Amino acid sequence: MTLKQTDPEVYEIIEAEKQRRREGLEMIPSENHTSPAVLEALGSILTDKYSEGYPGKRYYGGNEFIDKVENLAIERAKKAFLVPYANVQAYSGTPANTAVYLAACEVGNMIMGQSLPDGGHLSHGANATFSARFYKSQPYHVKSDGYIDFDEVWRLAREHKPKLIWVGASAYARQFPFAEMAEVADEIGAWLAADIAHIAGLVVAGVHPSPAPHAHIITTTTHKTLRGPRGAIVMATQKGLEKDPDLGKKIDKAVFPGGVQGGPHNHQTAAIAVALKEAMTPEFKEYAAQITKNAKVLAAGLMERGVKIVSGGTDNHLMLIDLTPYGNGLGIFLEEALDMAGITANKNTVPQDPSSPFYPSGLRLGTPCITTRGMKEKEMTEIAAWIARVVDLIKDYQLPEDKGERKSYLRNFRKEVAVSETLKKIKEEVIELSKKFPIPAIH
Ligand SMILES: Cc1ncc(COP(=O)(O)O)c(C=O)c1O
Repeated sequence: MTLKQTDPEVYEIIEAEKQRRREGLEMIPSENHTSPAVLEALGSILTDKYSEGYPGKRYYGGNEFIDKVENLAIERAKKAFLVPYANVQAYSGTPANTAVYLAACEVGNMIMGQSLPDGGHLSHGANATFSARFYKSQPYHVKSDGYIDFDEVWRLAREHKPKLIWVGASAYARQFPFAEMAEVADEIGAWLAADIAHIAGLVVAGVHPSPAPHAHIITTTTHKTLRGPRGAIVMATQKGLEKDPDLGKKIDKAVFPGGVQGGPHNHQTAAIAVALKEAMTPEFKEYAAQITKNAKVLAAGLMERGVKIVSGGTDNHLMLIDLTPYGNGLGIFLEEALDMAGITANKNTVPQDPSSPFYPSGLRLGTPCITTRGMKEKEMTEIAAWIARVVDLIKDYQLPEDKGERKSYLRNFRKEVAVSETLKKIKEEVIELSKKFPIPAIH
């Protein structure tokens, strides 16, 4: 029996999501559209199998073929990222980063990562998470120009002597300074962990420099620019193994049984293997180069139309619109208005954001999904013009200072933009463009 026959409710929801994507532009930089081959592996019977442990050392029988697929994923990860050791079992990016703490730190150690409001990830020491509860967290920041503040990094590192430093972030549009960060970590004897979740596809394709010569540990998600299933990889570099020859074993033990997970998701492992094979093709190299070209054209198109971009552009797949010239906390207005026009993006803090994380003053945009659909520079210019028109539409709204007034103000905003002729017109144009660029796995 098919899904449609056994569970029409779930079937209809999936069909509705397909339709939303067909007629819209996904511009959240941490997302991508996976290939039919990745989805086929992900939807396979490998999901049924229990295989706690690692290839050749399992706690369950019947793992002959699971071992093969996991070994294949490991070998491909080592080849793609040029590292001697890889673990492909972490369920996702946050559990992967948890494993790094368990492998490299003791509870109570000092750790340092890029501040959350400045683009860092929650798991790099943000207050709301385990990483600040179990470890002492000292964040570093970006300067008002959007680049990492190295004077501060050096000062904090020498003062606090962290055991572990993170380089990598979720909303940083510039090249990550792996070599400079390694100088800091090496001087104080800290572990340097590069979290390349966002840029992994660009790194494999050689479009962004690799952290492999500089960091001891590398983590990545597999579902962003790498274009695989949701999942993660934790790697030890040659430099990491020289610092501690047991680092690989420590990572394995931290992921299982030491971490926050049990049996590996074998269907996910198979799909990661498929994605890694795809990522090492010449076509993917071209794809990754186009992601960055598209992002640069999009950012330039926005700036030409008067929209402020943090750091004045981008080196990778994402950019941050800074709405503070018009007021504080306008990110939600732009996110919702773009949504109505069929453009999906996410509100985001900007460096030194005068507002709050729930009502941030910026918006994050990325090109991985629309580049997967085959869009190029010409389409980026068109999209930049639409987004600039939506910025123009929302810029005179002002988030009330009084928190009690915000709900009703936003309700009124939604009512007004719902009938906007500008948004209606843009939505029609977005649908027309979207239909010309089908998503590979959506028929
Ligand atoms: C830099 C970085 N690391 C880790 C993660 C966590 O990944 P996940 O959402 O799979 O836990 C993210 C997610 O956006 C990220 O941007």
